[in-house]
Amino acid sequence: MTKTIAILPGDGIGPEIVAEAIKVLDKLWTSFGLDVQLEQGLVGGAAIDATGHPLPIETLELVKKANAVLLGAVGGPKWEPLDIAIRPEKGLLGLRSELKLFANLRPAILFPELANASTLKPEIVEGLDILIVRELTGGIYFGQPRGIRILDNGESQGVNTLVYNESEIERIARVAFESAEKRQKRLCSVDKANVLEATELWREIVTRVGKDYPNVQLTHMYVDNAAMQLVRAPKQFDVIVTTNMFGDILSDLASQLTGSIGMLPSASLDANNKGMYEPIHGSAPDIAGQNIANPLATILSIAMMLRYSLNKPKLATIVENAVSQVLREGLRTKDIQQKGTETISTREMGDAVVAALSQ
Ligand code: IPM
Ligand code: MG
Repeated sequence: MTKTIAILPGDGIGPEIVAEAIKVLDKLWTSFGLDVQLEQGLVGGAAIDATGHPLPIETLELVKKANAVLLGAVGGPKWEPLDIAIRPEKGLLGLRSELKLFANLRPAILFPELANASTLKPEIVEGLDILIVRELTGGIYFGQPRGIRILDNGESQGVNTLVYNESEIERIARVAFESAEKRQKRLCSVDKANVLEATELWREIVTRVGKDYPNVQLTHMYVDNAAMQLVRAPKQFDVIVTTNMFGDILSDLASQLTGSIGMLPSASLDANNKGMYEPIHGSAPDIAGQNIANPLATILSIAMMLRYSLNKPKLATIVENAVSQVLREGLRTKDIQQKGTETISTREMGDAVVAALSQ
């Protein structure tokens, strides 16, 4: 049966990189028999401009009926003056919570060809293959109460709440343990249990769930130490599971280990593996519209979509191999540029991946 993919290009470089991912989907359709139908929708600043709301009802209906969602990026300086409740980011957070996408998988894999593109020494990052499992629909991003209020003495006060229920911790822990079972069987749970009660509970529940996965070696680490260890000796990690905000921060950090934030895909999954797929980088307004952004994170997000939501693992590998091949050929967008390699545009990179798929 034909599967529907909702395409939400969003803002900044979103439309440019998504256009390249669509070329890849088209190629998979024409040459590899992938039976999908693409339907475009508005989200983020683009949706605010057109409808006044970052997540219009039409988009919500579209993503709810789709089998998977591809998202570019949201946000930009143009919408920063708006009230936080209707900023572009609310569109993304609304998608995550409306679709109950509680499990965010962010793999940080170093392509061997990019060992020199990282700011860390090649021997520190060579062979790096980490999976960050970030809780995505809870924690301080969604906790109540929140807001900015005026106190009796006239002073303003900003409030956010870090809150986790046992069931929320348990379900993300299970996703992480199951991922670890398929990999090196090592799971590091990252928290701040020495200070924050919400993550003291996190540690307790993850430890309890771990009893069901005796083959997985579970360790715990405080987030400050984890940040240091990630740049000191990143290869000690296999799978990391952590809260929404810690995962946000650590995944940006991990991306730099791989050479560029322009290389990292992500999958956000619900309990039934319906998913939204997006590069982890943002909308990069500073380079938007210049045809220089790296589309590979978005193309690799398509590979994750094929694997997790469309049940086409072979096609996923084909796409990943095509990305490896263009890197092997020395093709580089500006962000991963190295001495002696040619710098190509966003569109040329997309075309190169499509050409590699044909071989
Ligand atoms: C990410 C982004 C988002 C987040 C922003 C754009 C709301 O940084 O996906 O990592 O904080 O989750
Ligand atoms: Mg982030």
